[in-house]
Amino acid sequence: MAQQRISIHGEWSSRWTFILAATGSAVGLGNIWKFPYIAGENGGGAFVLIYLLCIAMIGIPVMMAEIMLGRRGKQSPINAMRTLAQEARQHHVWGLLGWSGMIAGFLILSYYSVIAGWTLAYVPRMAAGLFQSDWLFANASPERISQMFQDFTSNPLELIIWHTAIMGLTMFIVARGVRGGLERAVNFLMPGLFLILFLLIGYAVSTGAFMQGMGFLFSADFSKLTGQSVLAAMGQAFFTLSLGMGAIMVYGAYLPRDVPITSTSVTIAGADTLVALLAGLAIFPLVFANGLAPDSGPSLIFITLPNAFGHMAGGAFFGTLFFLLLVFAALTSAISIIEPAVSWLVESRNFKRPHAALFCGVLIWLTGLLTVFSFNLLADFKPIAEKTLFELIDYLTSNIMLPLGGLFIAIFAAWAMHHDAHEEELGLGKADISYRTWLFLIRFVTPVGVIFIFLSAIGVFG
Ligand code: TRP
Repeated sequence: MAQQRISIHGEWSSRWTFILAATGSAVGLGNIWKFPYIAGENGGGAFVLIYLLCIAMIGIPVMMAEIMLGRRGKQSPINAMRTLAQEARQHHVWGLLGWSGMIAGFLILSYYSVIAGWTLAYVPRMAAGLFQSDWLFANASPERISQMFQDFTSNPLELIIWHTAIMGLTMFIVARGVRGGLERAVNFLMPGLFLILFLLIGYAVSTGAFMQGMGFLFSADFSKLTGQSVLAAMGQAFFTLSLGMGAIMVYGAYLPRDVPITSTSVTIAGADTLVALLAGLAIFPLVFANGLAPDSGPSLIFITLPNAFGHMAGGAFFGTLFFLLLVFAALTSAISIIEPAVSWLVESRNFKRPHAALFCGVLIWLTGLLTVFSFNLLADFKPIAEKTLFELIDYLTSNIMLPLGGLFIAIFAAWAMHHDAHEEELGLGKADISYRTWLFLIRFVTPVGVIFIFLSAIGVFG
């Protein structure tokens, strides 16, 4: 019986802890760094609408499925999938889902850590007042600030140092188990992040380009929408909710039985979406007010935000705090990306947790060098589709591996798992309207949606 299975890694102390940890996983660079620049590259409004649809119709149902599979399996995703497949009398090949998730996690964290390193590097820069227009350098202009970013990323050694610091911190936290310092960190982080986002929005309103930013973010022009941008919207929905690779599944494994999965999932997805939209509302007015291009890519926040803080009273202080909070947000995400692999090594390969963290961390650190060099030594190396190695890794993971993982998670939960198991995990009767809605979404809407978007991205529908 599922009820007797226990996790050897421990359990969250309460429903609230799980919400914090899962929200900590979901809210990260994906919301504040990635969402604005991807929305910018894909033309804004229509992309945002598709993104929101994907969150609601695909993201939330898959999140519920992942938590449910994790809590029932009570192990790392690889072992949980094997156990549940056995329970449902299905082939053990379902364990592959755990494997592909683990590989996706390695690839994602390899570049996530490099970018988190950038945000860490911007903490001392902010604190030193490098961007203040009225301080050490008069007139820290947008051009100057973007030049500083260029100089920074063109230096591989510097990027490696910050990347190493982030991987070190990630390994340290994971080695100690998730419970210790993390609950407290997230507790302080989320309110702080919200607060400074509102401050930034206040500043953005005062720049006069607020309506232009709003218009860009919310007025949908479907003529700009291509199959590729719809795929990017779905990929971003998976990425931002940490879905499709087992991160939420493994967090679900540590979830006590009495926690309601449906409302918890909606809360997490809602908080995550709110942070992304607030970040967009703060950043796009700054883009237009400073004459920057919305499609300027990964550098977007590293140019717009220093500009904004540079012109703000107390900007050095708030800017430092903001980048610091971003580092925390990235760390609470990073640990969830590595946890499926670490927990598997502990369960099945007899690793002690610290050794498992070190082993995975070193491999991921090495892979991260590909991303480091994509911004300097290998900037012109674009082997496929005019994309650098960083862009390829990001595309492969966000747009292909995560949705594919989500598709199979949906298929397993909806079609292979017994309905009694649903009822036990969700705590909803079979006639319950939330249950019927979820079942309909996960059985039909999610799989068809993912497949449809894949097909339209490769141009099947013209
Ligand atoms: N969701 C996080 C963010 O938006 C990143 C993240 C954490 C993630 N865990 C994940 C992405 C698992 C994909 C899969 O920054």
